[in-house]
Amino acid sequence: MSQFDHRKYTKTPAIHLSDRTWPDNEIIKAPQWCSVDLRDGNQALVNPMTIEQKHRMFDLLIKMGFKQIEVGFPAASQTDFDFVREIIEQGKIPPDVSIQVLTPARDEVIERTFKALKGAPKAIIHLYNSTSTIQREQVFCKDMEGIKAIAISGAKKIKQQAAMFPETQFQFQYSPESFSQTEPDFAVDICNAVIDAWGNSDQPIIIDLPATVEVHSPNVYADQIEYMCRNIKDRNKVIISLHTHNDRGCGVAAAELGIMAGADRIEGTVLGNGERTGNMDIITMAMNLYSQGFDPELDMSNMDEIIETVECCTDIKLHPRHPYAGELVFTAFSGSHQDAIKKCLAQQQDKEHWQVAYLPIDPKDLGRSYDAVIRINSQSGKGGVAYIIEEDCNVRMPRWMKIEFSQLIQKLTEENSQEVGRDEIIALFSREYLEDSERILLSYKISRENNIQNVTAEIIQSGVKKSISASAGGLLETFCKVISDQDKNDVHIIKYEEITGDEGSDAEAQAFVQLSVNGQRFCGYGISMDIAEAGMKAVLNAYNRSQVKAEVELLKELLKAS
Ligand code: KIV
Ligand code: ZN
Repeated sequence: MSQFDHRKYTKTPAIHLSDRTWPDNEIIKAPQWCSVDLRDGNQALVNPMTIEQKHRMFDLLIKMGFKQIEVGFPAASQTDFDFVREIIEQGKIPPDVSIQVLTPARDEVIERTFKALKGAPKAIIHLYNSTSTIQREQVFCKDMEGIKAIAISGAKKIKQQAAMFPETQFQFQYSPESFSQTEPDFAVDICNAVIDAWGNSDQPIIIDLPATVEVHSPNVYADQIEYMCRNIKDRNKVIISLHTHNDRGCGVAAAELGIMAGADRIEGTVLGNGERTGNMDIITMAMNLYSQGFDPELDMSNMDEIIETVECCTDIKLHPRHPYAGELVFTAFSGSHQDAIKKCLAQQQDKEHWQVAYLPIDPKDLGRSYDAVIRINSQSGKGGVAYIIEEDCNVRMPRWMKIEFSQLIQKLTEENSQEVGRDEIIALFSREYLEDSERILLSYKISRENNIQNVTAEIIQSGVKKSISASAGGLLETFCKVISDQDKNDVHIIKYEEITGDEGSDAEAQAFVQLSVNGQRFCGYGISMDIAEAGMKAVLNAYNRSQVKAEVELLKELLKAS
């Protein structure tokens, strides 16, 4: 019997604010960011960070421009306690940065937390206790009044302790843990009681409203936040902070809607590490702002350094499709995507607004190059391959040659059952079209009599120098005769295109040809200062390719017969 049975679950009660206003609001500026990597993120790791890793992460957060950093839970962990002491004693906290520490509402724990902070210039004391129905009834076995009393007592103890450390500028923060699963009126009541207990403080009080476990869709969380913003005491003196987790995969969306609903501040982690499915990812939310033309007030220009540091401190590899940061997020495998990107990039001017299909932002902004944008697998069409050849070999193939070359690439991807790299694409192009070895044109002479071209060419064929000649109508048709007469092959030109070098410049002329050799089509490419020579080289290249193919086929038949 399957255990998979949805009837085991029931819908989580949700608030319905029928006169909600948040859907009409827009996010047009960055919220206050608070990183909780060193506390919530750290608590969730298989191996919590060492002091060295904590320093590395702290340095990164400072470099990125965070002004509020939750540095640990010092009363619960000796490493956290020692780390807080080190950053204070080593003077590592910039004057405009507040460090934040978490504490439950227990007197002895609060006292130890203040000991850890001694000498800090600016600190946020973050008090929390659980308020949801499940936690009240099943874990703490207390009614609402009992839970409220815990919060008030903790708040009073904090106020009293803060008065004993006048050298530090303290700010107070309260989180009704599991807020989003708490009855809204009780959440308002307990937060107002804590605000009262703290009374007039120099710094605005932070009320942090966690979706400790994400159980609703983001619109419900937004309703809850709007309700709190309407009903909390002294709203204009209080900072409303959001702390979302990602259980339903909507941690960022919930935070964004929560900001639309009136919140001022966001707690999250860089790239989303945290309990279970993670904390909300600050990089994604900040980059969402950036990509809409708003200053995220965080520096993410060296994304690879951010990723390396986070991976090294958490020992968790970033998913290749992680928004904005993953290795594959600016890569197009689909041929039509590649074609669109290529066309848009060609038109994108430096100072213009970014308008490139399939790329929501310019990878260069994050320190990435365009190299990885176009990658070729068996699903890719001709556009991407042609883009690479144009960029790296400066050869702009006509459509019919792109088709031929992309078929060769596709064959290679299918044979290898994997993506082909840029280098392999260029190597195959060179082998096919640039490195003729069978017949090489050494020199040629053209003369014309009564519209008949006479061409005499010196060719090295299989290492032997030969002089051959023929007469016919056009130059290239004549040249076809020159090279094929001796082999008795039926050769003529199907398509021809040329790009002449700009006059006065030393750019070489390029010629592209499609030959029919005994009814089969082969493309060829030639380059020279002289357009006539470029054309003949292209014909020779196509003919050589046809002969290589003929030899391979002959060999296959001989093998079959033997
Ligand atoms: O997720 C949560 O509720 C927390 C609180 C302690 C803020 O991390
Ligand atoms: Zn949390």
